[in-house]
Amino acid sequence: LPHRSGLPVVGSTVAASRDGVAFTERVASRGDLVSYNAFGTEMVAVFDPEVVETVLVSESDAFEKGEFEMAFGDLVAPDGLAFAEGERWRRQRTALQSAFTPDEIRGYADEMVANAAAMADEWADGETVELGDAFATLTLRILTRALFDLDFDAERGAVVREATEAIGAMMDRFGLLSVLPEWVPTPTERRYDRAMADLDALVEDLMAEREVGNAEGAGDADRERDDLLSLLVAAADAEGTGMDRDAVRDQLVTFLFAGHETTATALTYACWLLAGSPEVRRRLDAELDSVVGDRDPTVADVPNLEYTEQVVKEALRLYPPVYALYREPREATVLGGYRIPEGTTLQLATYTIQRDDRWWDAPDEFRPERWGGEAQGAANSDRPEYAYFPFGGGPRHCIGMRFAATELQLAVATLARRVEFERVTENLDLSMGLTLDPGPVEVRIRKRG
Ligand code: HEM
Repeated sequence: LPHRSGLPVVGSTVAASRDGVAFTERVASRGDLVSYNAFGTEMVAVFDPEVVETVLVSESDAFEKGEFEMAFGDLVAPDGLAFAEGERWRRQRTALQSAFTPDEIRGYADEMVANAAAMADEWADGETVELGDAFATLTLRILTRALFDLDFDAERGAVVREATEAIGAMMDRFGLLSVLPEWVPTPTERRYDRAMADLDALVEDLMAEREVGNAEGAGDADRERDDLLSLLVAAADAEGTGMDRDAVRDQLVTFLFAGHETTATALTYACWLLAGSPEVRRRLDAELDSVVGDRDPTVADVPNLEYTEQVVKEALRLYPPVYALYREPREATVLGGYRIPEGTTLQLATYTIQRDDRWWDAPDEFRPERWGGEAQGAANSDRPEYAYFPFGGGPRHCIGMRFAATELQLAVATLARRVEFERVTENLDLSMGLTLDPGPVEVRIRKRG
């Protein structure tokens, strides 16, 4: 259909929110930039990697996260790193970067392995496990131990899990939110309010435990290293960072959310894919036998676990937990030859681009080999860089990227040494929720000898 801006156009909020995967496919069939109206916003879906690179990297200053993304930010932590803008964002990013250097990440590796090992050891042979829940507990434990030096018991984990699900449920009604009067109390909103109150109480406890806001405790001079929470506090104390106590709260919440659900989802897909791919599993085991042998993997093994890394990369290509990114141009602009009016929400379609047969052979197949040295060299010669961007790109790329990649690689290696997974759930029930949601993923555990 012709459209004001000359863009191909389709559109319906109901279709977009009910079955995002099928809807996005339909939108993609119209062209590389497609305009539609949903969620009360003019959306333009972007399926062209060159345009993705322009928006995220080469002209990133001309775009901000924008209103659509902030509606989500307001539900979670508007002043945290993931949603702040401009100078405020830049100061935060600089202050927090030192928790994510390669050296720091190496220091987290033992925690990653020990927790994955403990989880696998608890599983009984023949037991059926729902991987999404199991791995959310695992990644939350790793995150809070590694980054905050805090122990998270089951009860605390449950508070964060419930808040995550309550936010997800609010997101599901996003389309409706734009037409319903905001004061209408609904069970979903009540659940959300309750969950966030519990989360705030938990965060208060955590801050009190670490004496955030208490001048004497804030320095924490005898701590072994500067973990993320110490950095947050130090940054809040330093003049001009714009991080007061509320901002520390928002950062804590940001990292609890950004760091656990994404990684848990990725690990769920990776293990489910392995369960359905005996040949991939055989190659993985062969690598683990030769690199790791009978012991647990350590950080020193990471560079040698090449095939394990390819398995993780390929899982993130097929099932990117962050399945789309959203940006708004600061003023009217032109992209890919189309006029993009001010106020338009750009939807950079990670999931669809990473399965586009223009850039990928057999795009729907799980083939970790495609990331191997030679195969990669040949294919890359004509594949645009932003045909793959599970961690975003440019100045706002995922700050936890190296943390997540290391965690995934070490967790897959640790789990695979101990167990095999047999699929109980044969088909995923994909939906676009807070992250790319596979639905319940059940597997049967087979302990290895
Ligand atoms: C940002 C994906 C794990 C913390 C992002 C972005 C993506 C992403 C795509 C960019 C969003 C945008 O540009 O709009 C993922 C995936 C993960 C993962 C797929 C796991 C497989 C983590 C972990 C942490 C983390 C483990 C923390 C420990 C963040 C934060 C931001 C972010 C704070 C905002 C950065 C900024 O705006 O400066 N992530 N992430 N993520 N991620 Fe991750």
